Amino acid sequence: MAEPVRIGFVGVGGIARHHLKQLQATGQATIAALCDVREESAASAAAEYGGTVYTDYRRMLDAETLDALYVCVPPSLHTGAELLACERGIHLFVEKPVALTMPQALEIQAAIAQAGVLAAAGYVMRNWPGIAAAQEYLAGKTVSLVSANRWHGIAGGDDHWWRRMDISGGQLVEQATHNLDAVRWIAGEIKAVWARYEYASLAHLPNFSIPASQVVAFELASGAAGTLTCSCVLNQGGGGGNWDFLLPDERVSIVGAEARRAPVAAGEDGTLRSSQPTLNIDEAFVQAVASGDGSLIRSTYADAVRTLEVTLAANESAATGQVVECRAWRS
Ligand SMILES: NC(=O)c1ccc[n+]([C@@H]2O[C@H](COP(=O)([O-])OP(=O)(O)OC[C@H]3O[C@@H](n4cnc5c(N)ncnc54)[C@H](O)[C@@H]3O)[C@@H](O)[C@H]2O)c1
Repeated sequence: MAEPVRIGFVGVGGIARHHLKQLQATGQATIAALCDVREESAASAAAEYGGTVYTDYRRMLDAETLDALYVCVPPSLHTGAELLACERGIHLFVEKPVALTMPQALEIQAAIAQAGVLAAAGYVMRNWPGIAAAQEYLAGKTVSLVSANRWHGIAGGDDHWWRRMDISGGQLVEQATHNLDAVRWIAGEIKAVWARYEYASLAHLPNFSIPASQVVAFELASGAAGTLTCSCVLNQGGGGGNWDFLLPDERVSIVGAEARRAPVAAGEDGTLRSSQPTLNIDEAFVQAVASGDGSLIRSTYADAVRTLEVTLAANESAATGQVVECRAWRS
């Protein structure tokens, strides 16, 4: 049997716990080290999954021999663990959004390219069977219109970082980035955006500086037009997310994890299925690291930087009222 992949974590909060569970289930990974500035978070995860506890990622990377590092910190807190991992030749899994500014993301992207390490981003929806099926079905087809929505409530309580614009970047940058990334993956690159945000409806909440609702209109490189809306006003339930892709005489819809096309002939149900087995995002990453086959990674760091650029461009457009061009996809 191949040696297990030795993995460390920086940031051991909610999403790290999810990855730890999935990594353990692969049977191909050893959790070697867990680092969190809140020592008790790392320690309680270590009690369940193993690994030495640290509160400083530099000390962890000095002391441990790791094959891969998961970076699962809030968006504005990507402090340099990725750069140090690159220096040491450690493969990376970085949670989305991969940073909160383009210069930081591009610096890390360049370090990854120079080090030649594998680098995945946590755009988990690319590993959902329905989204993968829609991507496969629409590849090479001419999409005319894209409509995507993500309507939910506020993540976390009154003191959570999610509701702070300076830490999260707002719902589009932090959360609906998944939905926008799926649009890019399925329908191609986005070359320009225009956005409008609504703040007043949740402005009474404590510590709350993000928009309540966001509308983004965009132009794809293919010439297709699209919109994405997201909202966090539905705090008593009733939310959801969906995508529609309109082509001449055809509509492909994704609701939850399921994709369908319409219209269909009598007797057909229109459900789309992927021809490939869909590994979950951690299985795919561990297999990629173990085999050196980067093609198993559906969302690379460099690709995630392009999604980040579009969401930051929307924030800029909402602030300035201007259409903002997205350039990263051209490089
Ligand atoms: N892919 C997904 O579906 C998904 C789902 C949830 C969250 N996320 C992303 O994961 C990231 C983290 O989200 P979360 O919900 O786990 O947040 P969280 O607040 O639950 O956990 C973040 C952890 O990072 C720690 N931390 C902060 N700075 C650190 C540092 N310098 N060194 C070590 N630890 C540090 C915090 O103490 C905290 O325990 C965010 O970017 C979020 O968008 C992705």
